[in-house]
Amino acid sequence: MSLINLFRKRNRTKLFTTPSHSQKFFIYHKFRQFYRFDISETDAHNPQAALHSAQERAAKIYGTKATYFLTNGSTSGIHAAVLSCVSPGDKVLIWQNAHKSHLNAVKLAGAEPVFYEQMIDDNFGVPVGIDADTIKKELSGEKIKAVIVTSPTYEGFVSDVRAIKSVCEHFGAYLIADEAHGALYPFSDELPESSVNIADFTIQSLHKTAGGLNPTALLHVNCDIDAKPALDMITTTSPSYPLLATIEANIKYLNSAKGRKKIADLIDGLKQLRQSCKNCEFGGNDITKILVKLPKYSGFDLSEKLFSKYHIEDEITNEKSTMLLCGIGTDAKKISALKNALQNLSQL
Ligand SMILES: Cc1ncc(COP(=O)(O)O)c(C=O)c1O
Repeated sequence: MSLINLFRKRNRTKLFTTPSHSQKFFIYHKFRQFYRFDISETDAHNPQAALHSAQERAAKIYGTKATYFLTNGSTSGIHAAVLSCVSPGDKVLIWQNAHKSHLNAVKLAGAEPVFYEQMIDDNFGVPVGIDADTIKKELSGEKIKAVIVTSPTYEGFVSDVRAIKSVCEHFGAYLIADEAHGALYPFSDELPESSVNIADFTIQSLHKTAGGLNPTALLHVNCDIDAKPALDMITTTSPSYPLLATIEANIKYLNSAKGRKKIADLIDGLKQLRQSCKNCEFGGNDITKILVKLPKYSGFDLSEKLFSKYHIEDEITNEKSTMLLCGIGTDAKKISALKNALQNLSQL
């Protein structure tokens, strides 16, 4: 039984259980359907069994040892991964400017952070990925229990996670890949290689690029550690089954011919955009992150012009460049509007 099908079943049992809206009492009518699907772990519904088999099917799709559905973002996946493989007093190698969940995870585990720096690409003013040699130097110096890398970076630079994994293996350290911004990678050969089958733990946000609702995400486990006890420590005992069901549907869609075609179309549209904006300079290794520079514009000027003149909002900007995030929901119309705006601005 899948979670999606569970909601199709009519249930005649009179529930004297939580939630007290009983799927029938709608305080906020616009969300009626959400209330209908908002079930608890009752005998009548037994959503736990459906969740368990949905997660097992997901692990088969991704080729992992286990894949867990998260309804508190990649943040919770990073916390659970660190708590799973690190004990109090252990050292964890993390990037100095990493997302705050990395340092918080280390603190939660009672471990000690050891920081590494990432090089900055001077042309675009953004951090690039981390190389295996830097990790090797750090691991040669002291006993590190786990390493966390962010690949891709927010702006779309990927690291050689395979090479980093061999270094980690050599030194007996676990590797955790923060792939929050790379949830489409397993579903296209034209995108960078995903870490899901390389790192010991990989965390992906479905809500960032893969069409998921906020804050749906995945924790993939590729080693022999059972991440469930750590997840139980940080997760509610009353999960949102409507959100969990969207995760099941999300993965099914990404893995379907329709989903893969949608990603391929997105990539084609973005290739055309790059080809037709000859005066723009593009950076990064992930075509779905439009990291762009225009002659005569600072990143902030470009961001401001796109917003005020073309009603286009970017994801993040710095002095040198601007990044516009694309994902499965970025349609041809939107790409065309951006292409026109960039062409016009670069001709002024
Ligand atoms: C690199 C990176 N990792 C992790 C996260 C946390 O993701 P979530 O918002 O899904 O908890 C973010 C969020 O912006 C991020 O940019």
